[in-house]
Amino acid sequence: MNRRSLLTRIVQGFSLAGLAFVAYPFIRAFLPAFAEDLSVEVDISDLGNGESKTVSWLGRNLYVIRRSAEVTDQLAASADALKDPLSINSTQPEFATNLWRSLRPDILIVYKNCTHLGCEISANFITPEAGFDCPCHSSRFDASGRVYKEAVASFNLEIPDYQFVSRNLIRLIKG
Ligand code: FES
Repeated sequence: MNRRSLLTRIVQGFSLAGLAFVAYPFIRAFLPAFAEDLSVEVDISDLGNGESKTVSWLGRNLYVIRRSAEVTDQLAASADALKDPLSINSTQPEFATNLWRSLRPDILIVYKNCTHLGCEISANFITPEAGFDCPCHSSRFDASGRVYKEAVASFNLEIPDYQFVSRNLIRLIKG
């Protein structure tokens, strides 16, 4: 192989590598088989009324909580005490822009980060005054993750995208 054909081979090699590098994102976007599946399934069959579990997903923690009918029945009554009772300025999938901020009234799924500075909130769904508290600057959220007027946080807790695979199995979906 002479010097000229060697150089041609090298240039061709670099061209192919460059083409593959540029084409990879397009191939991944258009062919579902190449798309990374970042969804995760959560079994809620073991959750009793008022109980919660923490799920780590995509670098963040979420609460999955089973609310009693007693708790969900009180959600409409607290509207006057909330900054954004209809969740108009808050982040949630369209299906969760409702009183329960969820697909099913009994199951609530929220990110555990306070919407003020991101501290992890704690849930209390055992007492009649069910909701979330932030340990950092005392923001409080109701049983749908809606922020109370006196809180320093401005927005309701974030809700992820998800679907029910069956009655007791939830799939979290990257939005
Ligand atoms: S981080 Fe929650 S109130 Fe400040």
